[in-house]
Amino acid sequence: MSKKKSFLRQFWQEKKMVGAMAPSSRFLAQKMLKDIDFETARVIIELGPGTGVFTDKILEFMHPDARLLVFELNDHFMEQLRKRYTDPRVRLIHDSAEKIQEYLDTEGLTHADVVVSSLPLANFPKELRDSILHAADHALLENGHYVQFQYSLQSKKQIQKVFRKTKIRFTPLNFPPAFVYACRK
Ligand SMILES: C[S@@+](CC[C@H](N)C(=O)[O-])C[C@H]1O[C@@H](n2cnc3c(N)ncnc32)[C@H](O)[C@@H]1O
Repeated sequence: MSKKKSFLRQFWQEKKMVGAMAPSSRFLAQKMLKDIDFETARVIIELGPGTGVFTDKILEFMHPDARLLVFELNDHFMEQLRKRYTDPRVRLIHDSAEKIQEYLDTEGLTHADVVVSSLPLANFPKELRDSILHAADHALLENGHYVQFQYSLQSKKQIQKVFRKTKIRFTPLNFPPAFVYACRK
């Protein structure tokens, strides 16, 4: 099954969790990863990889000594990710994004340099959004990056409350068009 079909099927089954009908475009991937300094980043966390559009790019650019912790809650996506990613730098975690700290501890890691999130925050209850944003903030090193895309500006205030600086970019070259929040701890 193609990635597009697989994505659409998961969307029909779990609309709120998956939050999109198709994988993100390469244009959105470029905008999401634009500010990351892959030379220096040693711990990268990805939340909600789906079929791995951003994961592929992160792996292409990340340092040979860097680690990538990937959180995906959907069973089908996780099964596909397990078949696809055998790179020893990657740890695939079939659990929810708010448990970042628990898995950093298990891996013996103290912090993350970057968090790349595709989670459909606007679909979540406020408590879950808060809990995930605070978990990401807590995990980040001072001045670390939090990058998040959304299809609306609905979560803007909540994101800005947690992170020190937030730049918002827009890309029409995605279905649906998306806003990228590039934040600093
Ligand atoms: C909008 S999709 C983005 C997929 C992919 N990154 C892309 O851009 O094409 C959101 C993803 O977040 C995952 N997800 C939703 N809630 C989650 C949670 N609490 N923890 C981890 N992953 C979650 C969904 O299963 C889905 O794969």
